[in-house]
Amino acid sequence: MEDKELIAAAKKYREFSYSPYSKFKVGAAVLTKKGNVYGGCNVENSSFPMTNCAERTAIFKAVSEGEREFEAIALIADTPEPCSPCGACRQVMVEFKIPKIIMANMKGDVQVVTLEELMPYAFTEF
Ligand code: THU
Repeated sequence: MEDKELIAAAKKYREFSYSPYSKFKVGAAVLTKKGNVYGGCNVENSSFPMTNCAERTAIFKAVSEGEREFEAIALIADTPEPCSPCGACRQVMVEFKIPKIIMANMKGDVQVVTLEELMPYAFTEF
């Protein structure tokens, strides 16, 4: 699957964003090694820390369907630069060794980075 297709999936899921507090809509889509795509959006809560980011929604949907091996994740938001994942989501990407992160914005800017570039010196095992 091409990067632009995974971005298109993320964009579609961004429309489902539940973000009445921040009004900041984020969409994500993960591609598994089996070739399946799982999408997600940010889901906010009036108790703010309960919010789940789009990336973690997508990853958790995939894992809860039995998927543990990933090719890539795309995320998109209406940001000046391609939207960069938060630290919590980076840690979850490390957990599932998602090797490629495709960052995009609504203007069509795209930046692709490796997991090592995004999360150097990551905590992995204890
Ligand atoms: N958000 C994401 O969905 N992904 C990120 O990587 C950064 C932040 C969401 C959480 C919250 O709903 C909104 O964006 C503002 O922080």
